[in-house]
Amino acid sequence: MAIKVAPSLLSADFSCLRNEVKRIEDNGADWVHLDVMDGHFVPDITFGPIVAGSLRQHTNLFMDAHLMVSEAEKQVESFVRAGVNLITVQAEATAHLDRVLRKIKGLGVKAGVALNPATPPGVLEYVWPLLDLVLVMSVNPGAGGQAFIPEVLPKIKAIADKIRSGKCFTELQVDGGVNRETAPAIIKAGATVLVAGSAIFQSSDGMALINELKTIGVSG
Ligand code: DX5
Ligand code: ZN
Repeated sequence: MAIKVAPSLLSADFSCLRNEVKRIEDNGADWVHLDVMDGHFVPDITFGPIVAGSLRQHTNLFMDAHLMVSEAEKQVESFVRAGVNLITVQAEATAHLDRVLRKIKGLGVKAGVALNPATPPGVLEYVWPLLDLVLVMSVNPGAGGQAFIPEVLPKIKAIADKIRSGKCFTELQVDGGVNRETAPAIIKAGATVLVAGSAIFQSSDGMALINELKTIGVSG
């Protein structure tokens, strides 16, 4: 299956986000990944629905909001109004996973669940029918530019097998430390959407990486 690439704006130049989105769009990005941080679930604060809505005016890219926030249920309506296409919540950040997923779906956008490196996939057991995407975090959330944690590879494989055996259309996204070196094993394990931040925005040949990652998917 073709790999989709979702550059993370976390490593982009925040003083000109509109241009950065245009750059990834021109270089073949499939989605744009928005890392939303609240200073509570993770220490840093990035941006919220106002910025997402503003970027929406300038791109047709599929917008994927990764909410690294506590009590995500309180933010969901604003992100839907901002025009994002998919909202992913961290399994660890809500006591009411089923409820927040139903809320997202009820508002007419796609829903995803992110799992930290140490979170087992069993938390998905009873919410599979609600899931358009599972996000396996391959670093601990909170910052770009961290090293890929290889221990998550068996988890990616286990979730990929589960998706295939259930013949679901659920996307399997991997986020953290994705680059030329780590991507082949991630794709082999069964990822369908790759998030990459620093490898795309902070290296001189980063824009070329977008299409390269898709080629690995085809030939690997
Ligand atoms: C981490 C974020 C990631 C991160 C990826 O909290 O969810 O999206 O920005 O950045 P790189 O690709 O630099 O690891
Ligand atoms: Zn992310």
